[in-house]
Amino acid sequence: MKKLLWIVVLLAIALAFPVSNLLITRKPDPALRANAKDARFEAVVSMFENKCIDCHSDKATLPFYAKLPVASSIIAKDIQRGTEELNVPQDCFGPTPVNEAVLAKIQRVMEIGSMPPGDYQMMHWGSGLTSNDKAALMGWIRNGRALANGAADGNHPLYASAVLPLNEPKGLNSDKVALGRKLYHDTRLSGDNTLSCASCHDLKKGGTDQAQFSTGIRNQKGGINAPTVFNASHAFVQFWDGRAADLQEQAAGPVANPIEMGANWDTVPGKVKADKEYESAFAKLYPEGITKASITDAIATFEKSLVTVNSRFDRFLRGTTDALTADEQEGYRLFTADGCYTCHAGQILGGKSFEKFSRYENYYADRGNPTPADDGRFSVTKKESDSHKFKVPTLRNIALTFPYLHDGSTSDLAKVVKLMGKYQLHTDIPDRDVALVVKFLHTLTGELDGKPLQ
Ligand code: HEC
Ligand code: HEC
Ligand code: HEC
Repeated sequence: MKKLLWIVVLLAIALAFPVSNLLITRKPDPALRANAKDARFEAVVSMFENKCIDCHSDKATLPFYAKLPVASSIIAKDIQRGTEELNVPQDCFGPTPVNEAVLAKIQRVMEIGSMPPGDYQMMHWGSGLTSNDKAALMGWIRNGRALANGAADGNHPLYASAVLPLNEPKGLNSDKVALGRKLYHDTRLSGDNTLSCASCHDLKKGGTDQAQFSTGIRNQKGGINAPTVFNASHAFVQFWDGRAADLQEQAAGPVANPIEMGANWDTVPGKVKADKEYESAFAKLYPEGITKASITDAIATFEKSLVTVNSRFDRFLRGTTDALTADEQEGYRLFTADGCYTCHAGQILGGKSFEKFSRYENYYADRGNPTPADDGRFSVTKKESDSHKFKVPTLRNIALTFPYLHDGSTSDLAKVVKLMGKYQLHTDIPDRDVALVVKFLHTLTGELDGKPLQ
């Protein structure tokens, strides 16, 4: 009899929390409601409110037991880790369009069923995603993706996927492109007239120098790998650590960088002016004439034209199924199944977010010789949580943009894919799968001015 009583008491205690969660009606979340105004997505907003917000907002209203000793520390940790990954009121309902990497990550957790976490579902019965939740969420994801890519709605079947075909650039002034092309190749932009942008971003070498580190003025070596200029206009910020907001701001950097082109913006416009051809071209295009702003604008406009469309992968996505071999298609399937697209999202398969390189294991300890370049985004924000975060590099033309990673430590693509499994996804990708993913990655080489890159 006594035993039975104990069982009843224990059961009652065990059930008290989940049952209380069922009985308490949730109030609308003020932080979320303040941002979420589009009535079409009411079902998604209330799904986030009921099933996600507890851990994905720093302003969430928590249940009473969140103040109890053990629960409070578990919940605080969940909120800290959860909001670090995703802050729903800001990331999903803040400025539009929603970032494509955020959309990709939400699609991923929905598809693999990892959110809300299992222990949360035990305490919150019915918090698993229903098929209605999933349909509503997918509609919202597709709409966000379409907006981010300049389309009106997400109805096109392409928007079901985080990875999209690359579009031809539109609306560029062709005279500015031509002027920018000339400046880009002009060594007079460097201090001793030996280097141009093309020295380190050679259009015949995938927009890179194919070297671990670049050689700047007077043979000085840099400490970080030069990324490609191809498709850079699609990136949300420039440089590995995102310290330039856009291509124009970026272009001012290398000219004046003492170990790159080593020139001085006080003297560069004068040097450009000395060339009569430049003088008349600028006069036609820029009322202010030859200045730092007009020079960098012309270079940035040229860079916006460097979009390498029409790769075999693009033709495949647009419906030419036999543009990829069976192995290459299997490689793409694995790329998707492994979750590579959660970081390598959008038209250039990257360039949309900062991500920690070394999510699950410590790459830097394994490699040795730490350098300031390993700091990544931390060097801009000085926030500990930004340590080792890098702007995700594009995978477009990856066959040509070796060596890889910010430290340029390897030209072996298979090795990089293996590393991505280990450090970013916590999985040991079997060698057979790695080889197929590499085959897929080779289909991402596009064309420039109608000619295939090589
Ligand atoms: C109990 C707290 C909790 C709830 C509820 C919760 N999450 Fe999470 N979420 C976390 C934590 C902790 C992480 C980071 C660690 C991890 O990956 O497990 C995370 C990570 C994520 C990520 C980043 C991707 C990833 O795999 O790391 C996404 C996206 C995400 N959650 C979406 C959601 C969505 C959508 C919901 C609601 C359907 C939800 N979460 C509900 C705690 C929660
Ligand atoms: C001496 C070699 C060198 C020269 C010359 C050079 N760059 Fe770079 N470039 C680099 C390196 C190295 C980086 C990466 C630096 C970083 O992220 O900290 C870079 C980064 C960039 C990026 C950012 C790409 C991305 O994905 O973040 C762009 C765009 C770029 N350079 C364009 C130019 C332009 C335009 C010029 C000429 C005005 C130029 N570069 C001159 C070496 C060079
Ligand atoms: C959690 C985010 C994340 C995931 C998931 C991820 N990557 Fe990456 N990837 C990165 C980051 C960040 C870098 C840059 C790392 C560095 O250089 O320090 C990178 C670099 C790369 C590079 C080298 C690019 C270059 O030009 O240097 C390749 C190739 C690559 N990833 C492929 C993959 C593949 C294939 C997968 C899936 C198996 C994958 N990635 C999964 C974030 C991710």
